Amino acid sequence: MLDKFGRNIDYLRISITDRCNLRCKYCMPAGCDMVGHEDILSYEELLRLAQLFARTGVRHVRVTGGEPLVRKGAADFVRELKAVPGVEKVSLTTNGTLLEKHALALAGAGLDSVNISLDTTDAALAREITGSDGVVDAVRASVGLMRSLGVPVKLNAVLLAETAGTVTELARFAEEGVPVRFIELMPMGVGRFERGYDPDAALAALRCVWPDLHPVDARIGFGPAQYYASAALKAPIGFIDAVSHRFCSGCNRVRLTSRGFLKPCLCFDEGADLRELLRSGADDAEILAAIEGCVFNKPRQHCFDTPQDMTESRLMSQIGG
Ligand code: 5AD
Ligand code: SF4
Repeated sequence: MLDKFGRNIDYLRISITDRCNLRCKYCMPAGCDMVGHEDILSYEELLRLAQLFARTGVRHVRVTGGEPLVRKGAADFVRELKAVPGVEKVSLTTNGTLLEKHALALAGAGLDSVNISLDTTDAALAREITGSDGVVDAVRASVGLMRSLGVPVKLNAVLLAETAGTVTELARFAEEGVPVRFIELMPMGVGRFERGYDPDAALAALRCVWPDLHPVDARIGFGPAQYYASAALKAPIGFIDAVSHRFCSGCNRVRLTSRGFLKPCLCFDEGADLRELLRSGADDAEILAAIEGCVFNKPRQHCFDTPQDMTESRLMSQIGG
């Protein structure tokens, strides 16, 4: 459906859990509160909502977290989402460390693509950022496995001050045909206490290795990344610089938190408490009206450049990235 600014909202991100097996310092550092099982929506509740979102015109659903694969039944949920009339594409965002165990089930469920988060190829740095050992090796294995199963993979890396020296190494995944997207650190949750690395500086560093990197129109999926290609790379390199290059006018997405709160924009805590409706016995028409009202009133743009206007205080692990 169109929001009041005429944007076509056809992409829904569903966080199925706040929990994660890693503790990335800009997302969910050690010691963060977690929600209880009864607080998060059941798969039945999520599917009921997915059907209603599809009726409003949602065509692409992304399953996210926390780390979605720490919740039991994630692959079955993907299969059920794929069966929702109107839903054309179901994708997954994961840290990649648990993928080996679930790869076959996910591919069998019809998963259309997977985005794996990896901020650096340096094992020691990765340990410092995520609090865990073995992340880089696990992600490398997962990337290979998913590709061998025919599921397209992209890598997502948050640009951090401390990983500045490793962006070109990470970008080498694109030499093997895996698109790599660099995400500007957003001042969300505990991310506001971290130092990011400027996307323009990162692009300049990449151009020292691949001088012919040039912007291309290519869109992979439905995302907001600006892609760059080089003759030496089999896949493009993308930049998602939400903060410095605002792309809100083309935004096509809304987010459902694991507690069933519909968020029309990252920056603000306004939205619709769909869990309250679901659990108070609302019928489909009432829930649909709440969804449509919330989507229609999606804010025009984020306010990362004036952080004092931000009303959102949730952690990224609660929102789903
Ligand atoms: N800024 C940018 N990206 C973030 N992510 C988590 N927190 C932030 C932040 N503050 C990313 C994760 C993952 C995706 C779900 O969101 O690294 O790639
Ligand atoms: Fe977990 Fe992803 Fe957050 Fe890291 S960024 S703690 S992997 S949810």
